Amino acid sequence: MRIIRSILAPVDFSEPSRSALDFALQLARRFDASLTILHVYEAPSGTDEHERVGQAARDAVEGLRTELSRADVLVQAVAAVGSPADQILDWARAHGFDLIVMGTHGRRGLGHLVLGSVAEHVVRSAPCPVVTLRG
Ligand SMILES: Nc1ncnc2c1ncn2[C@@H]1O[C@H](COP(=O)(O)OP(=O)(O)OP(=O)(O)O)[C@@H](O)[C@H]1O
Ligand SMILES: [Mg+2]
Repeated sequence: MRIIRSILAPVDFSEPSRSALDFALQLARRFDASLTILHVYEAPSGTDEHERVGQAARDAVEGLRTELSRADVLVQAVAAVGSPADQILDWARAHGFDLIVMGTHGRRGLGHLVLGSVAEHVVRSAPCPVVTLRG
């Protein structure tokens, strides 16, 4: 029985999320699971700006996918707009991921908190196990 068939790795392009992604890739290889990289960007106000920011987010996450792609692991990349924690949870529920792998901290990296706000929200409400890694 394969316990873990699909892994969701949310990334904000910070160093901790990047090391979590490397760990997620090793797990995917070990479990013969697929890996989905999810970056959530926040919607800017103007339509033009929205298009530009959305394209930049898609390019960035696609760049990571290209960098990580190996013949032995199926890697997908997604850019979603909205609140990071809500989007991560929506994706995990809607697509039935078996595991989420993420950093304890991200870009803002407030050292005095055990978990950043996105990590805390996801750990509290995720429908599946969550692995968190310090950078
Ligand atoms: N916009 C995002 N898109 C996808 N994943 C994210 C996003 N923001 C954070 N994450 C994931 O959550 C992990 C923890 O980041 P989090 O935002 O909770 O910490 P922080 O930035 O240090 O704190 P805070 O944002 O509360 O100031 C990251 O390593 C990454 O895996
Ligand atoms: Mg953050």
